[in-house]
Amino acid sequence: MDFESLSADLRALQQRALDEASAAPDPESLELLQIRYLSKKGEITTVLRGIGALPPGDRPRVGAIANGVSEAVKAALGRREAELHAEVQTLRLASERVDVTLPGRPRARGTLHPIPETAACIAEVFGQFGFVVYEGPEVEDDLTNFQMLNIPPDHPARDLWDTLYVDIPGHLLRTHTSPGQIRVMQSTRPPIRALLPGRCFRYEAVDASHGFEFFQVEGLMVDEGTSLADLKGLLDEFAHALFGPRKTRFRPGYYPFTEPSVAFDVECLVCGGVGCPACSRTGWMTILGAGMVHPVVLQYGGIDPERYQGFAFGMGVERIANLRHAVPDLRYYLENDLRFLEQFR
Ligand code: PHE
Repeated sequence: MDFESLSADLRALQQRALDEASAAPDPESLELLQIRYLSKKGEITTVLRGIGALPPGDRPRVGAIANGVSEAVKAALGRREAELHAEVQTLRLASERVDVTLPGRPRARGTLHPIPETAACIAEVFGQFGFVVYEGPEVEDDLTNFQMLNIPPDHPARDLWDTLYVDIPGHLLRTHTSPGQIRVMQSTRPPIRALLPGRCFRYEAVDASHGFEFFQVEGLMVDEGTSLADLKGLLDEFAHALFGPRKTRFRPGYYPFTEPSVAFDVECLVCGGVGCPACSRTGWMTILGAGMVHPVVLQYGGIDPERYQGFAFGMGVERIANLRHAVPDLRYYLENDLRFLEQFR
């Protein structure tokens, strides 16, 4: 072995190592190359074993060449490692790419059911006139639901309310929110401006316009000098707030607890008063029942009818919601079908 052939071996070895390094497909093969060429038992060391056969003067030169080869291989391995790292990084960036300009996925948002939503809308209109919301119980006693509203036990007017009774003697499911009038009068002093929303129950055959379970909003005002004209003015404001500027009218009506009693109509929302199937060709739609609180009812409420007068009104919330949203059948409100409910966003 002489200097020439040893250094030629080292140069060949370097070339091979550099070629292999730049062709290494992954970090694992680089690791193997590192062991194969640079470790203590690697090929460079093996070549250097032949150094003992050289004349002492040549040995440092071969040592220097071997160091140069080591450095070159190390550098080549390092370069390739950086390249591989960059490739992996590029692939990862491409696969994990997020388009930040895409619009977000919308979350489904719940909304108020159209009945409480309509009740809240009614309460807001009357709230502007100083009416405050109260609530009464759904299980009422006969006294408050009927007798104190001037409907004695054997009075024929009881036929107006087909009643569901409960197992507690003298109790029933309230047939209207009017017993709330008595409760408010008994617990507060005039001036009274009360609004009473609530669920009511009647023994009804269910169809498109009747339910055995429905919502009402009751209104009660009691003060000195309260008149039917005040009632008309207030209800006009209410109708205009909900349905826009439309003609309204009072018709005579009958309720045992109001005298006089009226039905409050608005010009038909469908035909504008010409007459159509929606208004039974009358041109009018009835919105609610109302009247001046009967003196006997004021007395039951502990209020002196010589000094105070009051008016009251009561409306079916389903009916108002039907008109606001053009819903043809009140059974939809209780079915909880999302296809129906989702339309009230
Ligand atoms: N309570 C009556 C009903 O259920 C409505 C009403 C309330 C009428 C207040 C007059 C005054 O039909």
